[in-house]
Amino acid sequence: MTFKNLLTQTLSAAILITVTVSSCKKKEDEKIEPSFQPFTTPLKRPATVSGTSATFTASASSSEVIPGTSTGFLAYNNSIPGPTISINSGQTLNINFMNSLSEGTNIHWHGLEVPADQDGFPTSRISAGSNYNFSFPVNNRASAYWYHPHPEGATASQVYKGMAGFFIVRDAEEAALNLPSGDYEVPLVIQDKRLDNSNQLIYSPTTNDIMTGWLGDKIVVNGIYAPYLSVATRFYRFRVLNGSNARIYNLALSNSANFYVIGSDGGLLSAPVSTQSLMLSPGERADILINFSSYSVGTEIYLQSNSFTSMSQGNEFKIMKFKVDKSEAETFSLPSSLSVINSLSPASADTTRSFVLKADPMGAMPGMSGMHTINDKIFDENRVDEFVQAGSTEVWEIENTSDEPHPMHIHGVQFLVLQRTGGRNALIPTENGWKDTALLMPGEKIRIIMKFPSYLGKFVFHCHNLEHEEDGMMLVFQAI
Ligand code: C2O
Ligand code: CU
Ligand code: CU
Repeated sequence: MTFKNLLTQTLSAAILITVTVSSCKKKEDEKIEPSFQPFTTPLKRPATVSGTSATFTASASSSEVIPGTSTGFLAYNNSIPGPTISINSGQTLNINFMNSLSEGTNIHWHGLEVPADQDGFPTSRISAGSNYNFSFPVNNRASAYWYHPHPEGATASQVYKGMAGFFIVRDAEEAALNLPSGDYEVPLVIQDKRLDNSNQLIYSPTTNDIMTGWLGDKIVVNGIYAPYLSVATRFYRFRVLNGSNARIYNLALSNSANFYVIGSDGGLLSAPVSTQSLMLSPGERADILINFSSYSVGTEIYLQSNSFTSMSQGNEFKIMKFKVDKSEAETFSLPSSLSVINSLSPASADTTRSFVLKADPMGAMPGMSGMHTINDKIFDENRVDEFVQAGSTEVWEIENTSDEPHPMHIHGVQFLVLQRTGGRNALIPTENGWKDTALLMPGEKIRIIMKFPSYLGKFVFHCHNLEHEEDGMMLVFQAI
């Protein structure tokens, strides 16, 4: 045995021991900070940009996660979260982007069908001090999409440090439903952070953090720790984004009331689905309606995450508070149908592909990538893993043989989930509509179907647990 082999084996054994010991401790180190959860800071809404052109500057900035304190962030236009872009389907967006960070970055338009050169391929970076003009037509249907950086090696840290915002697309079909709007339509980006004693963000994933993904102990909504929202006795529409690096939320109301799921990553469902809880993994969005009309003024209800079974997370905790504090007459009535989801038939698929997800703590040397793989491979910018015919319909089967959850995301296309076997063995309410990200709990296998758009070029698909993604859990497909 060579010295190098011996070293490899010794180090791998050391990692295995560390990982085994810490997974025995299970949820010990991810407990949500219980000591300071006042729910006394009002929720703020993200800044907005409207119109079809805007200037975006990325720079170091700061924000008050906890009132009266200043936490350093990386931000778009000094705003945490990033400004919400609001645009009508069919319009062309122009963003004059300036990188005033001290590192390279790019922007990915998560969920949107955009040309490959606009999509933020991981190795296309806009270097520090340079600018880039993004310009693309927005062809997707109405929904809450989002944007965030995607540079290889820095996606996880830049997103964690604050760079993410909503990208809301509107269309006539949605407008005709007269869904709650204005004060009654609230974007919520839910994230988890770890702060040091001077309230600065900590981001320093260890090997074990890379296995589980980076989990924070403070839940922030729209950049505010433990906020509250005053609501009237009405229906509210919440556009919820899980913008966390690794944490999954099992959304529920503290009084166990039902709420309605009306939309998913890629827009409205065909009909509202009433539910008591909804899993939302990193990258996913949910369009939900909560009816506060039957509560008396003074009622307080929490949005919380219910417990679920997973090795490294899944404790119950509160996210934010709703304070019912004014009585108002309702003008909205819940439509029984919302949209038409034109299903794709697996019989019409041109190709079926299979992907197996694995996690192996011995798969890599310390400080190197490769513990998480797709078909035993990690990201390589110079290799094309799958050639896809533009405009064709494909079925992808993805199987999670690891013991960690993986929210799998495909760039530049929306898909339908046909089936989930193993684990939960069922679809969840958001999976009644178009998706760009779907969660695979350990032991689960999903079949999805999609029709690729006409854009040619290289795109990626990956786990949206951003530490897994940085670890290499990302492959390249090229539309030809
Ligand atoms: Cu939201 Cu490839 O990412
Ligand atoms: Cu994406
Ligand atoms: Cu993963």
